[in-house]
Amino acid sequence: MYESRMVDRSSVPDRAERERLLERAGYNVFDVPAEAVAVDLLTDSGTGTMSTDQWAALLRGDEAYAGSRSFSELEDAVAEVMGFDRIVPAHQGRGAEHVLYGAIVEEGDVVPNNTHFDTTRAHVAEAGGLPVDCPVAGAMDPDASGEFLGNLDVDAARELAAEHGPENVPAIVVTVTNNAAAGQPVSIENVRRARSLANDIDARLVIDACRFAENAYFVKEREPGWADASIREIARELLGYADALVMSGKKDGLATVGGFVAVGDHDPGDDGGDSDDTDELFEQLKQRAILYEGFPTYGGMAGRDMAAMAVGLREAVELEYLEHRVGQVRELADLLEAAEVPIYRPVGGHAVYVDAAAALPAIPADQFPGQTLVCAAYREGAVRAVELGSFAFPKTERPELVRLAIPRRTYHREHLELVADAFGDVLDRADRLTGLEIVEEPERESLRHFSAQLQPLEGALVDGPAE
Ligand code: F0G
Repeated sequence: MYESRMVDRSSVPDRAERERLLERAGYNVFDVPAEAVAVDLLTDSGTGTMSTDQWAALLRGDEAYAGSRSFSELEDAVAEVMGFDRIVPAHQGRGAEHVLYGAIVEEGDVVPNNTHFDTTRAHVAEAGGLPVDCPVAGAMDPDASGEFLGNLDVDAARELAAEHGPENVPAIVVTVTNNAAAGQPVSIENVRRARSLANDIDARLVIDACRFAENAYFVKEREPGWADASIREIARELLGYADALVMSGKKDGLATVGGFVAVGDHDPGDDGGDSDDTDELFEQLKQRAILYEGFPTYGGMAGRDMAAMAVGLREAVELEYLEHRVGQVRELADLLEAAEVPIYRPVGGHAVYVDAAAALPAIPADQFPGQTLVCAAYREGAVRAVELGSFAFPKTERPELVRLAIPRRTYHREHLELVADAFGDVLDRADRLTGLEIVEEPERESLRHFSAQLQPLEGALVDGPAE
């Protein structure tokens, strides 16, 4: 599928040094230097490896402030791959969210989403809205089964609109794939139903398209009628129901930075779409972009980054790439299961989620089993993962998950084996692990997992003498 033409040499500190680094980082792996990590599964965002064609495009980047050629290349790629002909670029996904949600959400509004990613939730709230998650039953259950567990519960969203008044619902949001629900995919049928709800209540349909190509791959694999369609056809169908897209190019744009909002005349309402409304929205978004991101033909991205993303978007919808990509995630899941590590099944598109409550049953939620597992895995194998349970989401009912997100085109089977070995070894001695307590946390509780400091309850992460 690909060959490596450039290598990043690394030398990983030994266990004693890792233990010291962990202590210094306040048992928060966001504060561990990346150089001291052997396999970094903290995120799949901006951490992928670019192709030679992308590097070539970088060199051709046009840095003009206005009307850059690289911007036109990005516009063309978005139109071709995603079917939207108008874009407002931003420095990354959350910049695009700020531009869009600040324009369409008002004080007192309610915004349903299959599940809000944390920055989405924060931007809807910042604009005065109430973000409400409407995942389907089973989405948050590590033992559930289903082909499209990422779907929006359209009936729940409809009830929400009835309860708060449809005029207070400016948008229905569908996040593909559903990152906060273990990277599960959304079906085209579900997006169609979300579209029809949006029509009924006169709301916009917004798709968070960060991982649209991975989602399209699942549609091809699982949704009746799509097996013979190309990924591009599926992607355009999936996204084509939306009035607007928010995109982080750091995921399925295969870029290291960047994002955009896209708008189009896709409303398949009775009158064939309200283009005045779309024109007005586009103008409003451009004005907000000038204020917060940059002139609307670069929006916080360098010309070279737009050029690289234009190439990346086309590569991301190649079937061979996606087979390898999703296949690698499944490979890690199988290796972990062989090492008897409990994981969320079915496996999603960009990450494997470990069920930390099942892995460390002796550690209660208020002692952060997920974060304990993250720290122990770093100590054991210099593997970095991220906790997405009661440490990251205080005061919400969520499973104790640890996400192992795989950067695109970066690691090989040996890396995945190392990860599975590290988790397997940790769990062999699970009864010796002690939980954690928070000793310092930032004011904004919803963002605490990025910077809070913790310490082991028994003074050390592992009870008893060092191995
Ligand atoms: N929406 C979703 C579904 C995301 O997963 C992310 C980022 C964003 C929006 C924001 O994009 O990072 O470019 O500003 N997710 C990363 C992650 C950070 O690790 O899951 P961004």
